Amino acid sequence: MSFRFTRAIVRPPSSNFADGLTSVSLGKPDLARALRQFARYCAALERCRLQLVTLPDDPEHPDSTFVEDTAVLAARCNVITRPGAPSRGGETTEIREALSGLDINTVSIETPGTLDGGDICDADGHFFIGVSQRTNWDGAQQLAAFLEKAGYSTASVDIRDVPDILHLKSGIASLGDNRVVAIDSLAGHHALKNHEIVHVSPGEEYAANCVRVNDYVLVAAGFPSFERTLKSLGYAAIALDMSEFQKMDGGLSCLSLRF
Ligand code: GLY
Repeated sequence: MSFRFTRAIVRPPSSNFADGLTSVSLGKPDLARALRQFARYCAALERCRLQLVTLPDDPEHPDSTFVEDTAVLAARCNVITRPGAPSRGGETTEIREALSGLDINTVSIETPGTLDGGDICDADGHFFIGVSQRTNWDGAQQLAAFLEKAGYSTASVDIRDVPDILHLKSGIASLGDNRVVAIDSLAGHHALKNHEIVHVSPGEEYAANCVRVNDYVLVAAGFPSFERTLKSLGYAAIALDMSEFQKMDGGLSCLSLRF
């Protein structure tokens, strides 16, 4: 099952976190507050029974706290990505080292492919691969080939015309149980037709980036309708304040690589 994990890689925001990329206009993040939110995020992962591998912060890469973009980790296939934003290219070096220390064999996305892990949604071994401003068709096809060779199935979802989302997982999340959370602009996508859709109310779109981890679902705080929906479906939600990461176009899934 794609939501059963024992470990996660995390990396705290660096002193120049506010210099990272963002497409939203929510103001400058407060570093001290971001660090407190990060600490609570890590504590939540530990509550979900994950052992954390915490990398040192990396001021050379202000977006490096968003570790999810640097790799796609699946039980039978681990892939180092080639992030689509030039300023993020160097983030994969330490992730590759960290994974080799953990004895995880990996392959890599190669040029001219680009791919951000935030565009990849593992729905119980069926992988939705977003084609976005960051992940190009070449990168998507390379990943699909790696995954299919390892016995997984894939489907691409072109989000380049979907407004207001950076990555595919800004708009969808797998809850397991054949359920996919989706914002309205993705809910009708043909790639999702075999999944039960859990809708996110208009105005609560940011909440779509939730993360199923073992017996819990991590969800951004401040979206009561979506939290009620999760509870009505029987999930135990852990709500986390994400305000400072949201200012930098980041969500809950971006802050860890779970495996
Ligand atoms: N700030 C996250 C990103 O743009 O990749």
